[in-house]
Amino acid sequence: MEKLTALVTGASEGLGKSFALELAGRGMDLVLVSLPNSGLNHLANYLRLNFNNKVFCIEKDLTEANSAYDIFKMLEEHKVKVNLLINNAGLGNWSWFEEKNIAFYKTQIDLNITSTVLLTRLFLNHINKNEQNYILNVGSLGGHFIVPKKQVYGATKSFIGYFTKCLQLELSGTKVNISLLSPGGINTKPELLVLNHSLKGMAKATILEPEVVAKAAISGVLKGQKEIIPGLANRFLVLLDKIIPGFLKEIIIRRKLKAILNV
Ligand SMILES: NC(=O)c1ccc[n+]([C@@H]2O[C@H](COP(=O)([O-])OP(=O)(O)OC[C@H]3O[C@@H](n4cnc5c(N)ncnc54)[C@H](OP(=O)(O)O)[C@@H]3O)[C@@H](O)[C@H]2O)c1
Repeated sequence: MEKLTALVTGASEGLGKSFALELAGRGMDLVLVSLPNSGLNHLANYLRLNFNNKVFCIEKDLTEANSAYDIFKMLEEHKVKVNLLINNAGLGNWSWFEEKNIAFYKTQIDLNITSTVLLTRLFLNHINKNEQNYILNVGSLGGHFIVPKKQVYGATKSFIGYFTKCLQLELSGTKVNISLLSPGGINTKPELLVLNHSLKGMAKATILEPEVVAKAAISGVLKGQKEIIPGLANRFLVLLDKIIPGFLKEIIIRRKLKAILNV
């Protein structure tokens, strides 16, 4: 099998960094994309030294209008052929709708939705669809459930789910595997670690480490799994969501909301 080259967005931190380590461990070459001055070169040097693979870094703000186009132009100029695209970069939040300003939501939608759509569109130009290629879109369990304080974030992840499932149908006659990753909470940064540490019971059981999620996701996309939901507790919650009637879910959410609001 030809050596794979994977492009990972948001590779400097969190889940993206775990993807880079997991892919390098599987012998793949890498194209790492992240914001300027986010330490990408440091990570790239570490990977080259420890895994002896080729690593190409692109420092780019994915919310810029031409960023997707610039990335594929750069790949062409450097004759880098990518066969696995991982749309990972994303911006989350846990706040009431009116607590964030317009600039925040614009950035969140540009990063979570627009950059994923445009990179996917240009990737399909970049590859030969009759050869084996892969796309992994990072969604979230937040895209499955209605969660207060995740209004726009959850909606962007629902978009990613719908978009990915539609493309799976459209690309079914080709050799392009496209997978949706729907993780629950991941311990990717200190503030999430603190928040996740305070959880109890089932909620705590849904939290996973980024390395565990990255490993499950890469195995899943290479096997052509349509939706990858890492963790038993998370798969159970999705199943439960399918069988609980809508009115009961609303009662549960309203009760939770009351508890949060303390009324
Ligand atoms: N963490 C969770 O609990 C969780 C749960 C479900 C799904 N997810 C999804 O998993 C993905 C990764 O989440 P994470 O927690 O690992 O996030 P993270 O730790 O905040 O990392 C995000 C990455 O994206 C990069 N990035 C941010 N804005 C960018 C921009 N405008 N242009 C280019 N790169 C940009 C960041 O670069 P810098 O280092 O320079 O900021 C960083 O490398 C996201 O799509 C998220 O929605 C996360």
